[in-house]
Amino acid sequence: MDFSKATILITGGNSGIGRGLAEALAGRGAKVIVTGRNTASLQATLDSNPGMAGYEVDVSDAESITSFASLVTAEHPDLNAVIHNAGIMEVEKALPEALDLDIVERTIATNLLGPIRLTAALLAHFSGKQEAAIVTVSSGLAFVPRADTPTYGATKAAIHSWSQSLRHELRKTNIAVVEIAPPLVATELTPGQSNNPRAMPLGDFLTEAVSLLCANPTPAEVLVQRVMPQRTAEQTGNFDAVFGMINPS
Ligand SMILES: NC(=O)c1ccc[n+]([C@@H]2O[C@H](COP(=O)([O-])OP(=O)(O)OC[C@H]3O[C@@H](n4cnc5c(N)ncnc54)[C@H](OP(=O)(O)O)[C@@H]3O)[C@@H](O)[C@H]2O)c1
Repeated sequence: MDFSKATILITGGNSGIGRGLAEALAGRGAKVIVTGRNTASLQATLDSNPGMAGYEVDVSDAESITSFASLVTAEHPDLNAVIHNAGIMEVEKALPEALDLDIVERTIATNLLGPIRLTAALLAHFSGKQEAAIVTVSSGLAFVPRADTPTYGATKAAIHSWSQSLRHELRKTNIAVVEIAPPLVATELTPGQSNNPRAMPLGDFLTEAVSLLCANPTPAEVLVQRVMPQRTAEQTGNFDAVFGMINPS
């Protein structure tokens, strides 16, 4: 898959990793379409990037995804790649209060159902293309979870599993399935995270990740060096040690 010649839809392309991917891929020659919920940051992204298209879409809303998919494929018939980047991460307190099921439901709706629903709405369109790609964004926390964000970790583990299955099911087609599994990156995914000294600088992550994504042949997984301890924790027998680092007692 040649991402530099693709027309790429990036959900959550109005901030953080999504905006960075959008700008880096546009810089390599791709035509980029971004979505977001926040009107101001979506407009700011478009104002800074002439040639980029943008739509307000709530990926947790099934109807909004269906109508958006019809609109975007009609207005951009060349669309042949999607990066399912939009996501939320919220701390869930198991005690002393009961689990907040509102957080659980919106995290699953956004991080898991969103990519599945949007893929379902785009698959027929992609199958008519010479080459196409479905790119998911999981997390190092898919492989070793952070205990105070259990639903987030569960959605990312599920996206990893779903990506593996979809890749196998589409292996004889023109559609590649790629999973990007970022480590902790300095964005505002959680409040104050962009100032966390343990987070990988966003620019460093983007440079390494975009170069891996655009490699030939297209990789199944985009894994920067920083995420390898988490990605390989089970195989290397280091799961307990890495879990302990992420979840101090
Ligand atoms: N940063 C990290 O450490 C890290 C690590 C591993 C994985 N990731 C993953 O990377 C992806 C991007 O996160 P980020 O770090 O760049 O955080 P971010 O700056 O908070 O970006 C999240 C994006 O998702 C969008 N979004 C959230 N809910 C949405 C919804 N219901 N409908 C439409 N858009 C929605 C947001 O749009 P609005 O602003 O308009 O709401 C925003 O553009 C996420 O999937 C995250 O899980 C991040």
